[in-house]
Amino acid sequence: MDRADIVVLGTFVADLAFKADRLPVVGETLLGRGFAIGPGGKGSNQAIAAARAGARVAMVTRIGQDSFGDMARQTWSRDGVDTSLVVADPAAPTGAAFIFVSTQTGDNAIIIESGAAANLSPDDVRAAEGRIAAAKVFITQFEQPIETAIEGLRLARSHGVTTVLNPAPALAVGDAIYAHCDYVTPNETEAAALTGIDTASDEGTLKAAACLVARGARNALITLGSKGALLHGMSGTHFVPAFHVSKVVDTTGAGDAFNGGFAVAIAEGRTPLEAVRFGSAVAALSVQKPGTAPSMPTRAEIDTFLRANG
Ligand code: ATP
Ligand code: RIB
Repeated sequence: MDRADIVVLGTFVADLAFKADRLPVVGETLLGRGFAIGPGGKGSNQAIAAARAGARVAMVTRIGQDSFGDMARQTWSRDGVDTSLVVADPAAPTGAAFIFVSTQTGDNAIIIESGAAANLSPDDVRAAEGRIAAAKVFITQFEQPIETAIEGLRLARSHGVTTVLNPAPALAVGDAIYAHCDYVTPNETEAAALTGIDTASDEGTLKAAACLVARGARNALITLGSKGALLHGMSGTHFVPAFHVSKVVDTTGAGDAFNGGFAVAIAEGRTPLEAVRFGSAVAALSVQKPGTAPSMPTRAEIDTFLRANG
């Protein structure tokens, strides 16, 4: 089989991850329980997840000419991500994220500064049109300007490329974007923010998914953390439970693992339901390791896991 071909529009940022028993309150200093700097950014994490899962991946982004920019290039080079569409900006820094990871639950809270990637423009996307047109799947998020995401989705769909929008972080966005989305993949919080519908109940989650479809997305795929994911759209409505994981180490980047894996399976021609299961396996493996991009599993690990949990 030809390798799946995916273009990712999004950020690279350096993740500065602090472990602590809880978040400090304002004015308080708290002793931490560990610190690590590693590669992150939703776009780059999804690119690494997809590349390790076996796809040929090109990244469209902007980074600075600094040490975090060097980290980005090393990260992509290790996993064979095509960087020919990456712009190195001499006048802006590579972004960074403050990440709090709870030692109690593995859950996280994040502040992200997109740095040079905040300057990604529709022109940057148009410069990548040839590469996007040749891809099977185009995926983007909201860590770069929304108009840039819209232009990427629009261009990709105009070439018959399957489009995936992971609308994270949650931002106010007009309905026009959904017509360009084959799949929109918020988590519960993002789905609630986008639709104004409370997603605390199963009924609410389904209503939010239906709302995204009514606004023009062909399919809504809402991730529900350790509960799983809800797919609603052209192939009906399906709840796919998450795989059971005995020891969760760090859930940061679970959504990126899921989206990267999902994109690969769709690009390989699997059904949406099979793709959700594949993405869930990638995410279940990633939450068992610390970090974001470094926690993404290889294709051999994914296939072994799926065979063992069939
Ligand atoms: P993040 O923002 O931390 O990257 P997210 O909030 O975007 O993640 P989630 O909905 O938390 O995404 O998780 C995405 C998918 O990852 C879930 O649909 C599920 O398949 C898997 N997952 C998440 N947490 C767990 C867990 N504790 N055990 C097993 N699978 C999990
Ligand atoms: O989804 C996780 C990612 O969100 C982290 O790597 C952090 O960089 C933020 O962008």
